[in-house]
Amino acid sequence: MDETGITEGLNTAVVGREVRVLTEVGSTNTVAMELAANGAPNGTVVVAERQTAGKGRLGRHWISPNGNLYFSVILRPEIPLRSAPAITLMGAVAVATAIRQATALPAAIKWPNDIQLAGKKVCGLLTELSAGQDGIRHVVLGIGIDVNMDMAQLPPELRPIATSLATEAGRIIDRTALLRAALQALDIWYARFLTDTGCVLAAWQGLNITTGRRVAVTGAGRQLEGLAERIDDEGRLLIRGDDGALHTVSAGDVTVLSSRNDISASL
Ligand code: BTN
Repeated sequence: MDETGITEGLNTAVVGREVRVLTEVGSTNTVAMELAANGAPNGTVVVAERQTAGKGRLGRHWISPNGNLYFSVILRPEIPLRSAPAITLMGAVAVATAIRQATALPAAIKWPNDIQLAGKKVCGLLTELSAGQDGIRHVVLGIGIDVNMDMAQLPPELRPIATSLATEAGRIIDRTALLRAALQALDIWYARFLTDTGCVLAAWQGLNITTGRRVAVTGAGRQLEGLAERIDDEGRLLIRGDDGALHTVSAGDVTVLSSRNDISASL
């Protein structure tokens, strides 16, 4: 991938006005956080062919061989800190939409930030930010999409739960075209997020496979089972526990235990 191929004719107001393509980095998020701290403009994108220290949620490693997409977007939103988690939801809406447009595959979102195909993870998003007394300084939205990787490079324990776009489509996917679609979608959804977060949450609702289902949540120091009712205005998941209490979950791993039909049949 090269900068000209990514940016030529790209019709965006903010996202991708500046793009840096690197062959190998530790983590595009780390590079983007450094660039942001040094004044890189709003919307700057860092793309890498591979990462040696890719970061996942909850301190996990993100396996990052050649063939996929790894990119991070610097954003400078003037919003309260409590609204920042919704940026990840905005990113998931944009990327799921772009995958649908570029591949015609039915990408869906699993709370909070996984994009799935056929019940398997194909993309993850990791948001990092710097904030001080004066509020948010900058946000980095990092996105990893398994596109054309050799699936044998995944450890055996991940193979049943992960997939790639090429696997699902049965053909090699044009990464530059997909990245351009993602940057264009991010530009549109970020502008909407700044003016009308409700419209982003509604779009997330329409693309998600978590709400309306029985789920189990683990990690972040808790274990909980119940019905995922909805997300709140800040993107937290509201789960009706088996004790009848409504639990607000802001981090953790969700396993979907039932289909939506199972739930309605049991009501
Ligand atoms: C997850 O655990 O689901 C989030 C994975 C996020 C991976 C992407 S790849 C590009 C960016 N750089 C990183 O180090 N992580 C994110």
